[in-house]
Amino acid sequence: MSRKPFVAGNWKMNKTVEEARQLVAEMMPELTEISTVERVLCPPFTSILAISAMVTGTEIGLGAQNMHWEEKGAFTGEVAPNMVREFCNYVILGHSERRLYFGETDESVAKKLAAAFKVGLVPIVCVGETLEENEAGRTEEVVTRQLREGLSLVPKEEADKLVIAYEPVWAIGTGRAANVEDASRVIGGVIRPVLADMFGAATEESIRVLYGGSVKGSNAAEYFREPAIDGGLIGGASLKKDDFLAIVRAAAETA
Ligand code: 13P
Repeated sequence: MSRKPFVAGNWKMNKTVEEARQLVAEMMPELTEISTVERVLCPPFTSILAISAMVTGTEIGLGAQNMHWEEKGAFTGEVAPNMVREFCNYVILGHSERRLYFGETDESVAKKLAAAFKVGLVPIVCVGETLEENEAGRTEEVVTRQLREGLSLVPKEEADKLVIAYEPVWAIGTGRAANVEDASRVIGGVIRPVLADMFGAATEESIRVLYGGSVKGSNAAEYFREPAIDGGLIGGASLKKDDFLAIVRAAAETA
C-alpha cells in the first residue's frame, strides 16, 4: 500500500496579505512542479482569499488553521465550516496551540471533525503529548485518548480521507525535534494500531500520518524515510521559501 506523501505548511499567526502573497509567489514555480507530493498551505484567515486566487488551477491545496463546528449564528470571532469550504479543501483541527491557549478539547475536536466532513473538508487532526506527559511515560495513553475521543464522530466510510499529525508538544517551535525512532514508534506502534482498531485495517492503510515539530529542510528526509511517516506538518520552516521547498523535495524522494 503506498500513500501519497503529504506536506502542509501551518503558518500560524504570521504574515500580512502582502507578505503572504510574496512568499507564495516565490515558492510557486518549484512548488507546482513537485506533483508527487500533496502540498497544502495553511495561512491565517485574512490571507486565505488572496492565496486562494494564486493557487486556484494548480494542485496546491489550501487549508484553514481552525474553524467552528456550528453552521452559523452568534459566535463572534468564529468562522463556519461552509465559509472555510468556500476557499479551502483542508482544515487543521486540534492543534496543540488551540488546545493549550484556546481551550480546545477532544470533545470540541470531535464536533469540528464531524462538521468538516459534512462540508467536504479534509481534516488534518493534530495529536501529541506534552513534555510532562512524555516524561511521565504517558505518551501512549494521551495519544490514544486524543484519537479515540477526537475521532469519535468521524463517518466510518470517509475515515480514509483523514490526515493525522503527530506533534509532540515539546517539539513544537523549540528546535528540539523528536528523534526519528521515537516519532516512528509512536506513529507505527500507537497511532496506526488505534486507527486500525477504530476504522479497520484497510482504512488505516489509506490514512496519512504526519510528523510535526521542528522539521526543517535539513532533517526532513530522516523522518520521511520512515515507512510509518507519510510527511510533515511544518510550522516555522514553512515561512521560509528555501526550507519549505527542501522539505517538499525530501518528501518527493520517498514517493
Ligand atoms: P514548528 O515546525 O515551528 O516546530 O511547528 C510545528 C507545528 O506546530 C506545525 O503545526
